[in-house]
Amino acid sequence: MAEIRKAEGIGDWFDQRLATKKLTKVLMTEYWIPKNINFLWAMGVVLVVLFTILIISGIFLLMYYKPDVKLAFDSVNYTIMQEVEYGWLWRHMHGVAASAIFLVIYIHMFTGIYYGSYKKGREMIWLTGMALFGMFSAEAFSGYMLPWGQMSYWAAQVITNLFGGIPVIGDALVIWIRGDFAVADPTLTRFFMLHVLLLPLVIIVLIVVHFYSLRIPHVNNQESEDIDFDKESDKYLAGNKKESKVVPFWPVFLSKDFFVSGAFLVFYFYLTFYHFDFAMDPINFEPANPMKTPAHIYPEWYFLWSYEVLRGFFFDVGPMAAMDIGLAAFGFANVIFMVFPFLDRDPNVAPAHRRPKFKIWFWLLLIDMIVLTVYGKLPPMGINTYIGFVAAVSFILLFVALPFITKCDAKHTGGVK
Ligand code: HEM
Repeated sequence: MAEIRKAEGIGDWFDQRLATKKLTKVLMTEYWIPKNINFLWAMGVVLVVLFTILIISGIFLLMYYKPDVKLAFDSVNYTIMQEVEYGWLWRHMHGVAASAIFLVIYIHMFTGIYYGSYKKGREMIWLTGMALFGMFSAEAFSGYMLPWGQMSYWAAQVITNLFGGIPVIGDALVIWIRGDFAVADPTLTRFFMLHVLLLPLVIIVLIVVHFYSLRIPHVNNQESEDIDFDKESDKYLAGNKKESKVVPFWPVFLSKDFFVSGAFLVFYFYLTFYHFDFAMDPINFEPANPMKTPAHIYPEWYFLWSYEVLRGFFFDVGPMAAMDIGLAAFGFANVIFMVFPFLDRDPNVAPAHRRPKFKIWFWLLLIDMIVLTVYGKLPPMGINTYIGFVAAVSFILLFVALPFITKCDAKHTGGVK
Protein backbone atom coordinates (compact mmCIF):
# COMPACT_ATOMS: atom_id res chain seq x y z
CA MET A 1 0.00 0.00 0.00
CA ALA A 2 1.26 3.50 -0.81
CA GLU A 3 2.51 5.46 2.18
CA ILE A 4 -0.15 7.62 3.85
CA ARG A 5 1.42 10.93 4.95
CA LYS A 6 -0.15 13.72 6.99
CA ALA A 7 -2.80 15.25 4.72
CA GLU A 8 -2.48 18.89 3.62
CA GLY A 9 -6.19 19.63 3.79
CA ILE A 10 -9.36 17.69 3.12
CA GLY A 11 -8.77 17.43 -0.67
CA ASP A 12 -5.39 15.82 -0.10
CA TRP A 13 -6.90 13.43 2.48
CA PHE A 14 -9.38 12.14 -0.11
CA ASP A 15 -6.74 12.09 -2.87
CA GLN A 16 -4.48 9.78 -0.83
CA ARG A 17 -7.35 7.33 -0.46
CA LEU A 18 -9.33 7.71 -3.70
CA ALA A 19 -6.89 9.21 -6.24
CA THR A 20 -9.36 12.06 -6.74
CA LYS A 21 -6.80 14.31 -8.50
CA LYS A 22 -6.16 11.67 -11.15
CA LEU A 23 -9.88 11.01 -11.51
CA THR A 24 -10.63 14.73 -11.96
CA LYS A 25 -7.97 14.90 -14.67
CA VAL A 26 -9.28 11.85 -16.54
CA LEU A 27 -12.93 12.90 -16.37
CA MET A 28 -12.75 16.68 -16.37
CA THR A 29 -9.66 18.86 -16.72
CA GLU A 30 -7.82 16.61 -19.21
CA TYR A 31 -10.81 15.20 -21.04
CA TRP A 32 -10.53 16.91 -24.42
CA ILE A 33 -13.36 18.29 -26.54
CA PRO A 34 -12.92 19.89 -30.00
CA LYS A 35 -13.27 23.67 -30.16
CA ASN A 36 -15.11 23.61 -33.46
CA ILE A 37 -18.60 22.72 -32.20
CA ASN A 38 -21.81 24.73 -31.97
CA PHE A 39 -24.61 24.96 -29.39
CA LEU A 40 -26.16 21.71 -30.67
CA TRP A 41 -23.39 19.84 -28.86
CA ALA A 42 -24.78 21.15 -25.56
CA MET A 43 -27.93 19.03 -25.97
CA GLY A 44 -26.34 16.04 -24.22
CA VAL A 45 -25.88 18.09 -21.05
CA VAL A 46 -29.38 19.62 -21.43
CA LEU A 47 -30.65 16.02 -21.43
CA VAL A 48 -28.81 15.31 -18.19
CA VAL A 49 -30.35 18.47 -16.65
CA LEU A 50 -33.87 17.42 -17.75
CA PHE A 51 -33.38 13.87 -16.48
CA THR A 52 -32.31 15.29 -13.09
CA ILE A 53 -35.47 17.46 -12.99
CA LEU A 54 -37.55 14.35 -13.77
CA ILE A 55 -35.95 12.40 -10.91
CA ILE A 56 -36.32 15.21 -8.34
CA SER A 57 -39.93 16.08 -9.27
CA GLY A 58 -40.73 12.34 -9.49
CA ILE A 59 -39.50 11.78 -5.91
CA PHE A 60 -41.91 14.47 -4.64
CA LEU A 61 -44.83 13.02 -6.64
CA LEU A 62 -44.02 9.55 -5.30
CA MET A 63 -44.67 10.74 -1.74
CA TYR A 64 -48.40 11.09 -2.47
CA TYR A 65 -49.12 8.89 -5.50
CA LYS A 66 -51.11 5.66 -4.89
CA PRO A 67 -50.59 2.77 -7.38
CA ASP A 68 -54.08 1.30 -7.09
CA VAL A 69 -56.78 1.52 -9.77
CA LYS A 70 -59.28 2.74 -7.15
CA LEU A 71 -57.02 5.45 -5.74
CA ALA A 72 -54.55 6.48 -8.47
CA PHE A 73 -56.73 9.04 -10.28
CA ASP A 74 -57.69 10.91 -7.11
CA SER A 75 -54.20 10.77 -5.63
CA VAL A 76 -52.97 12.68 -8.70
CA ASN A 77 -55.89 14.94 -9.59
CA TYR A 78 -57.14 15.69 -6.10
CA THR A 79 -54.38 15.08 -3.52
CA ILE A 80 -51.33 16.21 -5.52
CA MET A 81 -53.04 18.89 -7.59
CA GLN A 82 -55.21 20.44 -4.90
CA GLU A 83 -54.32 19.37 -1.38
CA VAL A 84 -50.53 19.20 -1.31
CA GLU A 85 -48.81 22.57 -1.24
CA TYR A 86 -47.02 23.13 -4.56
CA GLY A 87 -48.05 19.63 -5.64
CA TRP A 88 -49.28 21.18 -8.90
CA LEU A 89 -45.82 22.62 -9.48
CA TRP A 90 -44.06 19.25 -9.16
CA ARG A 91 -46.64 17.65 -11.43
CA HIS A 92 -46.34 20.34 -14.09
CA MET A 93 -42.53 20.25 -13.87
CA HIS A 94 -42.59 16.46 -14.29
CA GLY A 95 -45.05 16.45 -17.20
CA VAL A 96 -43.36 19.29 -19.10
CA ALA A 97 -39.86 17.80 -18.56
CA ALA A 98 -41.10 14.43 -19.87
CA SER A 99 -42.32 16.08 -23.07
CA ALA A 100 -39.35 18.46 -23.42
CA ILE A 101 -36.83 15.64 -23.01
CA PHE A 102 -38.15 14.04 -26.20
CA LEU A 103 -37.82 17.31 -28.10
CA VAL A 104 -34.18 17.51 -27.01
CA ILE A 105 -33.57 13.80 -27.69
CA TYR A 106 -34.79 14.30 -31.28
CA ILE A 107 -32.58 17.41 -31.72
CA HIS A 108 -29.61 15.44 -30.27
CA MET A 109 -30.29 12.45 -32.57
CA PHE A 110 -30.68 14.56 -35.69
CA THR A 111 -27.50 16.50 -34.83
CA GLY A 112 -25.70 13.13 -34.71
CA ILE A 113 -27.22 12.13 -38.05
CA TYR A 114 -26.38 15.47 -39.71
CA TYR A 115 -22.73 15.46 -38.62
CA GLY A 116 -22.15 11.70 -39.08
CA SER A 117 -21.37 11.24 -35.37
CA TYR A 118 -22.53 7.61 -35.48
CA LYS A 119 -19.74 6.42 -37.81
CA LYS A 120 -16.27 4.92 -37.70
CA GLY A 121 -15.54 4.13 -34.07
CA ARG A 122 -18.57 6.01 -32.77
CA GLU A 123 -21.08 3.17 -33.37
CA MET A 124 -21.25 2.35 -29.64
CA ILE A 125 -22.23 5.95 -28.84
CA TRP A 126 -25.07 5.62 -31.31
CA LEU A 127 -26.18 2.18 -30.09
CA THR A 128 -26.20 3.20 -26.41
CA GLY A 129 -28.03 6.39 -27.44
CA MET A 130 -30.71 4.34 -29.20
CA ALA A 131 -30.98 2.06 -26.16
CA LEU A 132 -31.57 5.23 -24.13
CA PHE A 133 -34.24 6.29 -26.61
CA GLY A 134 -35.97 2.90 -26.19
CA MET A 135 -35.78 3.10 -22.38
CA PHE A 136 -37.08 6.69 -22.32
CA SER A 137 -39.98 5.61 -24.55
CA ALA A 138 -40.85 2.82 -22.08
CA GLU A 139 -40.42 5.26 -19.20
CA ALA A 140 -42.79 7.78 -20.81
CA PHE A 141 -45.36 5.13 -21.70
CA SER A 142 -45.36 3.61 -18.18
CA GLY A 143 -45.57 7.09 -16.61
CA TYR A 144 -48.53 8.01 -18.80
CA MET A 145 -50.49 5.11 -17.27
CA LEU A 146 -50.04 6.21 -13.69
CA PRO A 147 -52.78 8.92 -13.41
CA TRP A 148 -55.24 6.20 -14.56
CA GLY A 149 -57.27 8.57 -16.70
CA GLN A 150 -59.11 7.66 -19.90
CA MET A 151 -56.03 8.07 -22.14
CA SER A 152 -53.82 6.18 -19.64
CA TYR A 153 -56.17 3.22 -19.79
CA TRP A 154 -56.89 3.21 -23.51
CA ALA A 155 -53.31 3.91 -24.62
CA ALA A 156 -52.23 0.96 -22.42
CA GLN A 157 -54.97 -1.14 -23.99
CA VAL A 158 -53.92 -0.27 -27.58
CA ILE A 159 -50.15 -0.51 -27.05
CA THR A 160 -50.20 -3.80 -25.10
CA ASN A 161 -52.54 -5.17 -27.79
CA LEU A 162 -49.86 -4.53 -30.44
CA PHE A 163 -47.74 -7.33 -28.96
CA GLY A 164 -50.57 -9.69 -29.93
CA GLY A 165 -49.42 -9.26 -33.55
CA ILE A 166 -46.19 -11.19 -32.85
CA PRO A 167 -46.60 -14.67 -34.41
CA VAL A 168 -47.09 -17.73 -32.16
CA ILE A 169 -46.41 -16.15 -28.74
CA GLY A 170 -48.40 -12.92 -29.31
CA ASP A 171 -51.56 -13.68 -27.31
CA ALA A 172 -49.73 -15.20 -24.35
CA LEU A 173 -47.29 -12.27 -24.36
CA VAL A 174 -50.12 -9.72 -24.08
CA ILE A 175 -51.47 -11.49 -20.97
CA TRP A 176 -47.96 -11.77 -19.50
CA ILE A 177 -47.30 -8.03 -20.00
CA ARG A 178 -50.68 -7.01 -18.56
CA GLY A 179 -50.55 -9.52 -15.71
CA ASP A 180 -54.24 -10.11 -16.41
CA PHE A 181 -56.56 -10.79 -19.35
CA ALA A 182 -57.38 -7.09 -19.60
CA VAL A 183 -55.54 -3.93 -18.55
CA ALA A 184 -56.29 -3.82 -14.80
CA ASP A 185 -54.78 -3.38 -11.33
CA PRO A 186 -51.81 -5.78 -11.84
CA THR A 187 -50.98 -3.87 -15.04
CA LEU A 188 -50.91 -0.57 -13.15
CA THR A 189 -48.72 -1.88 -10.31
CA ARG A 190 -46.15 -3.48 -12.62
CA PHE A 191 -45.91 -0.37 -14.80
CA PHE A 192 -45.54 1.65 -11.61
CA MET A 193 -42.59 -0.54 -10.58
CA LEU A 194 -41.03 -0.17 -14.04
CA HIS A 195 -41.53 3.60 -14.01
CA VAL A 196 -40.09 4.37 -10.60
CA LEU A 197 -37.46 1.66 -10.19
CA LEU A 198 -36.27 -0.61 -12.96
CA LEU A 199 -36.30 1.73 -15.97
CA PRO A 200 -34.63 4.70 -14.15
CA LEU A 201 -31.88 2.32 -12.97
CA VAL A 202 -31.31 1.01 -16.49
CA ILE A 203 -31.31 4.60 -17.83
CA ILE A 204 -28.66 5.70 -15.30
CA VAL A 205 -26.42 2.75 -16.24
CA LEU A 206 -26.94 3.49 -19.95
CA ILE A 207 -26.08 7.18 -19.53
CA VAL A 208 -22.77 6.17 -17.89
CA VAL A 209 -22.02 3.72 -20.74
CA HIS A 210 -23.05 6.38 -23.32
CA PHE A 211 -20.49 8.82 -21.84
CA TYR A 212 -17.87 6.11 -21.56
CA SER A 213 -18.28 5.18 -25.23
CA LEU A 214 -17.27 8.77 -26.13
CA ARG A 215 -13.91 8.24 -24.43
CA ILE A 216 -11.97 6.51 -27.23
CA PRO A 217 -13.45 8.07 -30.42
CA HIS A 218 -13.92 11.53 -28.77
CA VAL A 219 -16.69 13.98 -29.59
CA ASN A 220 -17.10 14.75 -33.30
CA ASN A 221 -16.96 18.33 -34.63
CA GLN A 222 -18.75 20.58 -37.12
CA GLU A 223 -16.49 19.71 -40.04
CA SER A 224 -15.93 16.10 -38.88
CA GLU A 225 -12.21 16.85 -38.89
CA ASP A 226 -10.00 13.93 -37.75
CA ILE A 227 -8.23 15.67 -34.83
CA ASP A 228 -5.01 14.35 -33.30
CA PHE A 229 -6.13 14.71 -29.67
CA ASP A 230 -2.73 13.88 -28.15
CA LYS A 231 -0.93 16.54 -30.19
CA GLU A 232 -3.61 19.19 -29.69
CA SER A 233 -3.95 18.59 -25.94
CA ASP A 234 -0.15 18.84 -25.54
CA LYS A 235 -0.33 22.24 -27.26
CA TYR A 236 -3.07 23.32 -24.86
CA LEU A 237 -1.17 22.14 -21.79
CA ALA A 238 2.02 23.87 -23.04
CA GLY A 239 0.10 27.18 -23.00
CA ASN A 240 -0.72 27.47 -26.75
CA LYS A 241 -4.44 27.60 -26.02
CA LYS A 242 -5.28 29.67 -29.09
CA GLU A 243 -3.53 27.37 -31.58
CA SER A 244 -4.87 24.19 -30.00
CA LYS A 245 -7.96 22.67 -31.64
CA VAL A 246 -9.23 21.29 -28.32
CA VAL A 247 -10.44 22.53 -24.92
CA PRO A 248 -10.83 20.66 -21.61
CA PHE A 249 -14.30 19.37 -20.70
CA TRP A 250 -14.08 21.28 -17.41
CA PRO A 251 -14.21 24.24 -17.07
CA VAL A 252 -14.22 25.39 -20.72
CA PHE A 253 -16.66 23.10 -22.53
CA LEU A 254 -19.08 22.81 -19.60
CA SER A 255 -19.28 26.60 -19.16
CA LYS A 256 -20.78 26.85 -22.65
CA ASP A 257 -23.09 23.91 -21.87
CA PHE A 258 -24.25 25.62 -18.67
CA PHE A 259 -25.06 28.75 -20.65
CA VAL A 260 -27.14 26.79 -23.20
CA SER A 261 -28.78 24.79 -20.36
CA GLY A 262 -29.64 28.08 -18.60
CA ALA A 263 -31.28 29.48 -21.76
CA PHE A 264 -33.16 26.20 -22.18
CA LEU A 265 -34.36 26.30 -18.55
CA VAL A 266 -35.89 29.77 -19.13
CA PHE A 267 -37.90 28.25 -21.99
CA TYR A 268 -38.70 25.16 -19.88
CA PHE A 269 -40.02 27.14 -16.89
CA TYR A 270 -41.98 29.39 -19.23
CA LEU A 271 -43.74 26.23 -20.51
CA THR A 272 -44.12 24.85 -16.97
CA PHE A 273 -45.86 27.98 -15.68
CA TYR A 274 -47.81 29.18 -18.72
CA HIS A 275 -48.27 26.29 -21.18
CA PHE A 276 -48.13 23.10 -19.11
CA ASP A 277 -51.39 22.02 -20.83
CA PHE A 278 -49.46 21.05 -24.00
CA ALA A 279 -48.01 18.14 -22.00
CA MET A 280 -51.37 17.04 -20.57
CA ASP A 281 -54.20 15.58 -22.61
CA PRO A 282 -57.63 16.95 -21.55
CA ILE A 283 -59.19 13.47 -22.02
CA ASN A 284 -56.88 12.18 -19.28
CA PHE A 285 -58.64 14.38 -16.73
CA GLU A 286 -61.55 11.92 -16.93
CA PRO A 287 -61.13 8.75 -14.80
CA ALA A 288 -60.37 5.50 -16.69
CA ASN A 289 -63.54 3.80 -17.86
CA PRO A 290 -63.16 0.37 -19.53
CA MET A 291 -66.79 0.62 -20.76
CA LYS A 292 -66.30 3.88 -22.68
CA THR A 293 -63.81 4.04 -25.56
CA PRO A 294 -62.68 7.63 -26.35
CA ALA A 295 -63.70 8.76 -29.85
CA HIS A 296 -60.11 9.15 -30.96
CA ILE A 297 -57.11 7.44 -29.31
CA TYR A 298 -53.63 8.80 -29.99
CA PRO A 299 -50.30 8.75 -28.15
CA GLU A 300 -48.25 11.72 -26.91
CA TRP A 301 -46.72 13.91 -29.67
CA TYR A 302 -43.30 12.20 -29.54
CA PHE A 303 -44.72 8.81 -30.55
CA LEU A 304 -47.04 10.16 -33.26
CA TRP A 305 -44.62 9.63 -36.17
CA SER A 306 -44.25 5.88 -35.54
CA TYR A 307 -47.96 5.58 -34.68
CA GLU A 308 -48.79 7.16 -38.06
CA VAL A 309 -46.48 4.68 -39.84
CA LEU A 310 -48.61 1.95 -38.23
CA ARG A 311 -51.90 3.67 -39.01
CA GLY A 312 -50.86 4.74 -42.52
CA PHE A 313 -51.23 1.15 -43.69
CA PHE A 314 -54.71 0.65 -42.24
CA PHE A 315 -55.88 1.78 -45.59
CA ASP A 316 -57.88 0.29 -48.37
CA VAL A 317 -56.52 -3.24 -47.88
CA GLY A 318 -58.57 -6.03 -46.27
CA PRO A 319 -58.59 -5.36 -42.48
CA MET A 320 -56.46 -8.41 -41.54
CA ALA A 321 -53.78 -7.76 -44.18
CA ALA A 322 -53.77 -4.06 -43.22
CA MET A 323 -53.19 -4.99 -39.57
CA ASP A 324 -50.21 -7.22 -40.45
CA ILE A 325 -48.62 -4.73 -42.85
CA GLY A 326 -49.17 -1.89 -40.37
CA LEU A 327 -47.55 -3.85 -37.55
CA ALA A 328 -44.58 -4.83 -39.73
CA ALA A 329 -44.15 -1.16 -40.75
CA PHE A 330 -44.39 -0.08 -37.10
CA GLY A 331 -41.73 -2.66 -36.14
CA PHE A 332 -39.55 -1.36 -39.01
CA ALA A 333 -39.92 2.27 -37.85
CA ASN A 334 -38.91 1.30 -34.32
CA VAL A 335 -35.76 -0.63 -35.16
CA ILE A 336 -34.46 1.14 -38.25
CA PHE A 337 -32.74 3.98 -36.36
CA MET A 338 -30.88 1.34 -34.30
CA VAL A 339 -29.05 0.07 -37.36
CA PHE A 340 -28.39 3.53 -38.82
CA PRO A 341 -24.54 3.28 -38.63
CA PHE A 342 -24.67 0.06 -40.66
CA LEU A 343 -27.00 1.43 -43.35
CA ASP A 344 -24.69 4.32 -44.12
CA ARG A 345 -22.28 2.91 -46.71
CA ASP A 346 -19.99 5.95 -46.96
CA PRO A 347 -16.89 5.02 -44.90
CA ASN A 348 -15.85 8.65 -44.44
CA VAL A 349 -17.10 10.87 -41.63
CA ALA A 350 -18.47 14.14 -43.02
CA PRO A 351 -21.28 16.56 -42.18
CA ALA A 352 -24.37 16.51 -44.40
CA HIS A 353 -23.40 19.83 -46.06
CA ARG A 354 -20.47 17.98 -47.68
CA ARG A 355 -22.61 15.02 -48.77
CA PRO A 356 -24.90 16.32 -51.56
CA LYS A 357 -27.36 13.41 -51.77
CA PHE A 358 -27.38 12.66 -48.07
CA LYS A 359 -28.15 16.31 -47.35
CA ILE A 360 -31.36 16.08 -49.42
CA TRP A 361 -32.15 12.73 -47.80
CA PHE A 362 -31.68 14.23 -44.32
CA TRP A 363 -34.11 17.12 -44.89
CA LEU A 364 -36.64 14.84 -46.61
CA LEU A 365 -36.58 12.49 -43.60
CA LEU A 366 -37.07 15.39 -41.19
CA ILE A 367 -40.00 16.81 -43.21
CA ASP A 368 -41.54 13.34 -43.56
CA MET A 369 -41.36 12.74 -39.80
CA ILE A 370 -42.97 16.14 -39.13
CA VAL A 371 -45.80 15.28 -41.59
CA LEU A 372 -46.24 11.89 -39.88
CA THR A 373 -46.37 13.63 -36.47
CA VAL A 374 -48.99 16.18 -37.61
CA TYR A 375 -51.20 13.60 -39.35
CA GLY A 376 -50.77 11.08 -36.49
CA LYS A 377 -52.83 13.44 -34.32
CA LEU A 378 -55.61 14.00 -36.88
CA PRO A 379 -58.57 11.60 -37.15
CA PRO A 380 -57.95 9.00 -39.91
CA MET A 381 -60.64 10.29 -42.26
CA GLY A 382 -60.79 11.46 -45.90
CA ILE A 383 -57.62 13.07 -47.24
CA ASN A 384 -55.77 12.48 -43.90
CA THR A 385 -55.71 8.74 -44.59
CA TYR A 386 -54.04 9.24 -48.00
CA ILE A 387 -51.46 11.71 -46.72
CA GLY A 388 -50.68 9.37 -43.79
CA PHE A 389 -50.23 6.48 -46.21
CA VAL A 390 -47.92 8.42 -48.56
CA ALA A 391 -45.82 9.69 -45.61
CA ALA A 392 -45.57 6.15 -44.14
CA VAL A 393 -44.48 4.66 -47.49
CA SER A 394 -42.00 7.52 -48.01
CA PHE A 395 -40.48 6.83 -44.58
CA ILE A 396 -39.79 3.22 -45.51
CA LEU A 397 -38.52 4.09 -49.00
CA LEU A 398 -36.13 6.70 -47.60
CA PHE A 399 -34.47 4.04 -45.45
CA VAL A 400 -34.38 1.52 -48.32
CA ALA A 401 -32.57 4.18 -50.42
CA LEU A 402 -30.08 5.17 -47.67
CA PRO A 403 -27.31 2.60 -48.41
CA PHE A 404 -27.31 3.50 -52.14
CA ILE A 405 -27.37 7.25 -51.59
CA THR A 406 -24.54 7.18 -49.07
CA LYS A 407 -22.41 4.94 -51.31
CA CYS A 408 -22.82 7.44 -54.19
CA ASP A 409 -21.79 10.31 -51.92
CA ALA A 410 -18.51 8.63 -50.94
CA LYS A 411 -16.75 10.20 -53.94
CA HIS A 412 -17.42 13.69 -52.47
CA THR A 413 -16.17 12.84 -49.00
CA GLY A 414 -12.90 11.07 -49.85
CA GLY A 415 -13.82 7.95 -51.84
CA VAL A 416 -14.37 4.33 -50.83
CA LYS A 417 -11.33 3.01 -48.94
C1 HEM B 1 -31.50 10.78 -23.19
C2 HEM B 1 -30.36 10.51 -22.79
C3 HEM B 1 -29.08 10.98 -23.41
C4 HEM B 1 -28.12 11.67 -22.76
C5 HEM B 1 -28.15 12.12 -21.32
C6 HEM B 1 -27.05 11.90 -23.71
C7 HEM B 1 -25.89 12.57 -23.42
C8 HEM B 1 -24.87 12.84 -24.32
C9 HEM B 1 -23.74 13.69 -24.08
C10 HEM B 1 -23.48 14.48 -22.79
C11 HEM B 1 -22.96 13.69 -25.18
C12 HEM B 1 -21.65 14.47 -25.44
C13 HEM B 1 -21.90 15.89 -25.85
C14 HEM B 1 -22.89 16.06 -26.98
O1 HEM B 1 -22.60 15.71 -28.13
O2 HEM B 1 -24.00 16.52 -26.69
C15 HEM B 1 -23.59 12.81 -26.14
C16 HEM B 1 -23.11 12.52 -27.40
C17 HEM B 1 -23.76 11.74 -28.34
N1 HEM B 1 -25.00 11.17 -28.21
FE1 HEM B 1 -26.17 11.23 -26.57
N2 HEM B 1 -27.39 11.35 -24.93
C18 HEM B 1 -28.62 10.78 -24.80
C19 HEM B 1 -29.35 10.15 -25.79
C20 HEM B 1 -28.90 9.92 -27.09
C21 HEM B 1 -29.69 9.37 -28.16
C22 HEM B 1 -31.17 8.98 -28.07
C23 HEM B 1 -28.88 9.29 -29.25
C24 HEM B 1 -29.25 8.77 -30.61
C25 HEM B 1 -29.10 7.60 -30.95
C26 HEM B 1 -27.58 9.79 -28.86
C27 HEM B 1 -26.46 9.86 -29.68
C28 HEM B 1 -25.30 10.53 -29.40
C29 HEM B 1 -24.20 10.69 -30.32
C30 HEM B 1 -24.11 10.13 -31.74
C31 HEM B 1 -23.23 11.44 -29.64
C32 HEM B 1 -21.86 11.87 -30.17
C33 HEM B 1 -21.91 13.27 -30.67
C34 HEM B 1 -20.59 13.65 -31.28
O3 HEM B 1 -19.61 12.92 -31.17
O4 HEM B 1 -20.56 14.69 -31.92
N3 HEM B 1 -27.62 10.18 -27.55
N4 HEM B 1 -24.76 12.30 -25.59
